[in-house]
Amino acid sequence: MLIIDGKKVSLDLKNELKASVESCQATTGKVPGLTVIIVGHDPASQVYVRNKAKTCKEIGMISTVIEMAADTTEKHLIDTIHELNNDPAVHGILVQQPLPKQIDEFAVTLAIDPSKDVDGFHPENLGRLVMGHLDKCFVSCTPYGILELLGRYNIETRGKHCVVVGRSNIVGKPMANLMLQKLDATNCTVTICHSATKNIPFYTKQADILIAAIGKAGFITADMVKPGAVVIDVGINRIEDASTKSGYRLVGDVDFDAVSAVASAMTPVPGGVGPMTIAMLLKNTLQSFQRINGL
Ligand code: GUN
Repeated sequence: MLIIDGKKVSLDLKNELKASVESCQATTGKVPGLTVIIVGHDPASQVYVRNKAKTCKEIGMISTVIEMAADTTEKHLIDTIHELNNDPAVHGILVQQPLPKQIDEFAVTLAIDPSKDVDGFHPENLGRLVMGHLDKCFVSCTPYGILELLGRYNIETRGKHCVVVGRSNIVGKPMANLMLQKLDATNCTVTICHSATKNIPFYTKQADILIAAIGKAGFITADMVKPGAVVIDVGINRIEDASTKSGYRLVGDVDFDAVSAVASAMTPVPGGVGPMTIAMLLKNTLQSFQRINGL
């Protein structure tokens, strides 16, 4: 069974991005800038935002974090986004989700200039993805990272049956649409399963490529997987574990030990899809800089 090593691929990618940032600086005298807005004090979001800022700096990009109080109004947040839309030193804007309940996440997504929407959440970017105009859009980072992993491991996709479990706007929907596109690295027959699907194992057992993005620890068991399938685990679930210092550990949506006896290739958790997400965010920010500067 092949372990698809997202940690290693993300390190390779970061080195490639660092070299590209240096070359951008040599040609233009400028470097890409990513601004991340975080509202409130959600501990998981704070960890994600800190990691994004740290990785940005490692590869030579400018990272700015704007911290806003939990009682920030939607108007104040949107006014700030409009200022960033007009700031030529900002190439990528990301508003960390989830947002406090007084703020409408969709209104915030709509406020971001699609040409700086490095999360790929804006309907213009998602619409371009659905219509196959990938060269002009930002693909949301987790699906884009999975595509990169499949490509770098030469996983055959053409004509394969890809089953995506989960229909979120951030992962399931863009992932399924990406695998459907007529590209060398996609071109699959695609099925999407979700919480109202009757008999999920009936579908997952037919998958050549199974992508689990449900958010439930160990949801995919060995009896749900076709022998030889490629299994991609998007889940990051905290479960209690008294034997660790923190009192918890991270597990995926796939029962890794049992499924590894059936699958031909798998992404681990941690160290699979997770590290790719930040790397693709930086790739999108670089791409935004290159488009804005006509490179
Ligand atoms: N919250 C969890 N994942 C993400 C992400 O990829 N982007 C944003 N903006 N918020 C998130």
